[in-house]
Amino acid sequence: MMEKSFVMMKPDAVQRRIMGKILTRFEEKGLQIVAAKLLKIDEDLAKEHYGEHSEKPFFNDLVSYITSSPSFAMVIEGDDAISLIRKIVGATNPKEADLGTIRGDFAMDMGRNIIHASDSPASAEREISLFFNEDEICEYKIADDSWIY
Ligand code: TYD
Ligand code: MG
Repeated sequence: MMEKSFVMMKPDAVQRRIMGKILTRFEEKGLQIVAAKLLKIDEDLAKEHYGEHSEKPFFNDLVSYITSSPSFAMVIEGDDAISLIRKIVGATNPKEADLGTIRGDFAMDMGRNIIHASDSPASAEREISLFFNEDEICEYKIADDSWIY
C-alpha cells in the first residue's frame, strides 16, 4: 500500500554533513521524497513532536538536542513506506542497530541517533501535519517506476 512517512535528519546528521549519504539510501531503495525542508525546531514544536515521551527521564535532553541546531525534515512516499523506512533507519539504540541500517552505520549514542522516522500510519499523519502544510507536499510521478516495483 502506498504510504507517506515523516522522516527527519536530526541536528547531528546536519552538523556532520552526512545528509546526502542518508538521502541516497532512501532514493536508491526506490522511495520518493515528496517534501523537504531545513528548519531549526523551536521548543514548542519539539515538545509537541515528542509529546508521547513527555514523562520520560530523557525528555529534557531530547528536546534540547533536537532544538540545538537545524534538522532536515522530509515526507517520503512509497510502497509500505512507514515500516520499510523504520527498517532502513534501524533500532533506536545505535549500538543495538544492525549494521547496514542508518543508525547502525552512522551513530554510537542513543542521544544522538541521527534520524527520526514515523512508527505507524497514525503517527505519520500527525507528524506530517505538524511539520508541513498541504501545499508543501509535491505529488509527482516518476516517469516509469515499473523498474523499481
Ligand atoms: P522512541 O520514539 O522510543 O524511538 P524512535 O526514535 O526509534 O522512534 O524515542 C524517541 C527518541 O528519544 C529516540 O530516537 C532517542 C531518544 N531516546 C533516548 O534518548 N533515550 C531512551 O531511552 C529512549 C527510549 C529514547
Ligand atoms: Mg518514536
